[in-house]
Amino acid sequence: MLTIQLVGCRVTAGADLMSDTKYLFKRDETWWVKVAVPRSLRDTLGCDLRRSLKTRDLETARAARQDVVDEFRRKIQQTREHQANQTTCSDSLDLPPGTGFEIVTRENFSDVTFLLEVSAPMLAQAAQPGQFVIVILHTHGERIPLTIADFDRKAGTITLVIQAVGKSTLEMQQRCQPGSRLYSVAGPMGFPSHLGTKKVVCVGGGLGVAPIFPQLRAFKESGAYVIGVVGFRNKDLIFWEDRFNQYCDELIICTDDGSVGIKGRVTLGVEAALEKHADVDRVVAIGPPIMMKACAETTRPFNVEMVVSMNPIVVDGTGMCGGCRVIVGDETKFACVDGPEFDGHKVDFDDLMSRLGRFRKQESQAMDAWKVTAGAT
Ligand SMILES: Cc1cc2nc3c(=O)[nH]c(=O)nc-3n(C[C@H](O)[C@H](O)[C@H](O)COP(=O)(O)OP(=O)(O)OC[C@H]3O[C@@H](n4cnc5c(N)ncnc54)[C@H](O)[C@@H]3O)c2cc1C
Ligand code: FES
Repeated sequence: MLTIQLVGCRVTAGADLMSDTKYLFKRDETWWVKVAVPRSLRDTLGCDLRRSLKTRDLETARAARQDVVDEFRRKIQQTREHQANQTTCSDSLDLPPGTGFEIVTRENFSDVTFLLEVSAPMLAQAAQPGQFVIVILHTHGERIPLTIADFDRKAGTITLVIQAVGKSTLEMQQRCQPGSRLYSVAGPMGFPSHLGTKKVVCVGGGLGVAPIFPQLRAFKESGAYVIGVVGFRNKDLIFWEDRFNQYCDELIICTDDGSVGIKGRVTLGVEAALEKHADVDRVVAIGPPIMMKACAETTRPFNVEMVVSMNPIVVDGTGMCGGCRVIVGDETKFACVDGPEFDGHKVDFDDLMSRLGRFRKQESQAMDAWKVTAGAT
């Protein structure tokens, strides 16, 4: 008869091993020892951390189990150290002069949002409001689309404002300092914003506050009456108020906690602006999809043109991969080559939000793997 006696099963060994599995069980007259760490950790470290042993003696089995656990711990530690060293060498941002794109300034707006001014003279010459670039941090980096939040043709720089939300943006937050170099910055991509309006409301919320700035400035320089509406969680997170004031005929600040300006979401500011100015001919909104959707619904009854800047998952940025597909009215469009700006009253925001969540599992695996190898906190 087969008898199986479990002595220890799914024992959590501590943060370094995450949750390992250590089985010790008896089948017939033989003690079996099985030790394994989770597949995700094995894949990340690239070593086989599974072992299966059998013995007739319980004490020998217990000792063997402990030996294997100790051996795995040593191996994990060594592999982490080795990979961390490799990361420092090959993923360096310390590129030789003449290669990459030098970061000339860094400013932190909050614990998650920061600004990088990057030397890219040709890009700065060509950039127009509403366009974006694709950044690769280092040789092993992924492609990250980022809006050109500002550009200075004379200084030959472009400005990026980044919110650290996942593996790559957190890595940028940790590692990008003045003097270091981004491996690649490609662009400018997408169509520039269409100007040609007399009175415009420019709305920026969350991530959209910085990218709305060059548009708002361009509207002002083209002679339009500009009303800025910007939203922050609280007054400590407000940035660029002076810049906005310089180019806005009216600036409405909204804060979630009411510490400055209107208490509540940017839609309240949009509503106030539209009620005060019946002759507004366009509203432009940039920010999280849920915010742009709310702006579209707020403006619909006012019968005003509504433009939103879409932020779907962008991979190649050339219209080839289809990753950035968005539904606008009855049509399927690619944000990277047809946009990123579209008619906000026609965009299917629910589809956009569901597509943005498609890779959540892989994104969280990438983050875990990076934390393990880079020792990030
Ligand atoms: C045209 C455009 C302009 C953008 N401008 C800015 C900007 O100025 N500042 C800024 O901070 N962010 C901007 N984004 C969003 C930024 O690209 C993502 O936050 C970033 O790619 C996340 O990568 P991650 O590895 O840090 O996070 P991940 O953990 O990989 O992803 C976090 C979330 O970001 C989104 N995301 C992931 N990969 C991509 C991708 N390749 N393309 C688009 N979204 C992605 C998904 O919703 C995902 O759930 C822009 C996106 C687009 C499409
Ligand atoms: S990002 Fe590939 S088609 Fe737009």
